[in-house]
Amino acid sequence: MTNRMIITGGNRLFGQVRISGAKNAGLVLMAASILAEGETILDNLPRIRDVEVMTQILNELGVVTRWNPDDSLSILVPEGRLNCTTSYELAKKLRASNLLMGALLGRQGEAVISLPGGCDIGSRPMDLHIKGVQALGAATVIEHGYIYAQSHKPGGARVYLDFPSVGATENIMMMASRTPGVSVIENAAKEPEIVDLANFLNSMGARIRGAGTDVIKVEGVSQLRPCRYAIIPDRIEAGTYMVAAAITGGEVKVQNIIPMHLHPISAKLQETGAYVEECDEGILVRAGEKILPVDIKTLPYPGFPTDMQSQMMALLCCSQGSSVIVENVFENRFQIVDELKRMGANIKVEGHTAIVEGQPCLYGARVKATDLRAGAALVLAALAARGETVIDDAGHVFRGYEKMPEKLTRLGAVVRTE
Ligand code: EPZ
Repeated sequence: MTNRMIITGGNRLFGQVRISGAKNAGLVLMAASILAEGETILDNLPRIRDVEVMTQILNELGVVTRWNPDDSLSILVPEGRLNCTTSYELAKKLRASNLLMGALLGRQGEAVISLPGGCDIGSRPMDLHIKGVQALGAATVIEHGYIYAQSHKPGGARVYLDFPSVGATENIMMMASRTPGVSVIENAAKEPEIVDLANFLNSMGARIRGAGTDVIKVEGVSQLRPCRYAIIPDRIEAGTYMVAAAITGGEVKVQNIIPMHLHPISAKLQETGAYVEECDEGILVRAGEKILPVDIKTLPYPGFPTDMQSQMMALLCCSQGSSVIVENVFENRFQIVDELKRMGANIKVEGHTAIVEGQPCLYGARVKATDLRAGAALVLAALAARGETVIDDAGHVFRGYEKMPEKLTRLGAVVRTE
């Protein structure tokens, strides 16, 4: 399996790139599909490693999945009880396997979920997920690395989330969609992927209102029906290619996007001196004369997305001054710093704050991707660096970016994989 990317930097990127479907919408919609028996079809689902692992997890539960000639995914959910256990082997590859908890509890009142464990960006606890499903009537026990959840008399409830967790909001929505009574999620996550999940579930006959705000109301129904649904474009993939234009001094138009989803990223890029213009179903980014330093604070949507923090750090390493980045969402999302330093970056980390002193240029080096977005940021740094960069563990990048080497090559980058 491809696991290394070799990039020769220095080319300005020019052209158009079609953005794929959103990884973080596709994964939760795949989990939610088990709430209805029959064939659900998802369009615009990216062919990425995380999606492949999620199909394996669904197969493990007894759900048949099939890629169709038109690139849609058919999810054939049988009648009767599904296997309700997600295995450690697959869960450790994909944290989003934890989204099967709400879907299984909503469908059949039982779920045995392998604790996904931490990853390179933080401990990734599930306390808010558990608080939510318990409020709706599930009894939970954590033993031997699994969450055992069973709901004998589920009922609608009001849940306040201490933090607007995306996954916890999604798990509660899925369980509540088929739990008798009305549930209210307060301080809910407002990400576009939450709205996409609500739209998907409502297409199946659910009664969800308020998605996209911090109060979501769900009126449980006894049955949902399968549907065909096209997932939203990936705002983080789009943001990554927008930064690629700015960091290489080029001009790139990202297409098949929803501009509103990119507002925090477009605004920040403009502050760095890039020219950003919304046009028909796309956004054009032209690099500015120079890259200006900016300060960034990551926050839940509609704040600046944590999933774009590493990519912006790479850009600011090439800026004409000092930038301050504060990571407020995850506790350990500066893993990329040591790798960027190998390329000549000057970054100082103090707790949740990174101070980036821009340099005239970066230099190619041998580096290692520690997680998905750090890997994407190393690609961006390599595109701008002088000389050749070898990125080991590039498999992380292929987890969340469809056909990245091909898309970059079409924009004029010199990329090869091994
Ligand atoms: C989703 O992860 C995304 N993943 C992440 O994208 C994204 O970074 C994150 O939301 C924030 O936007 C998917 O959608 C598959 P959270 P999730 O629960 O749901 C704490 C990427 O690169 N927390 O909103 O796991 C947690 O520790 C990935 O595409 C609790 O304390 O994120 C973290 O600090 C990375 N208790 C913060 O909340 C809980 O029960 C945000 O986590 C749950 C979370």
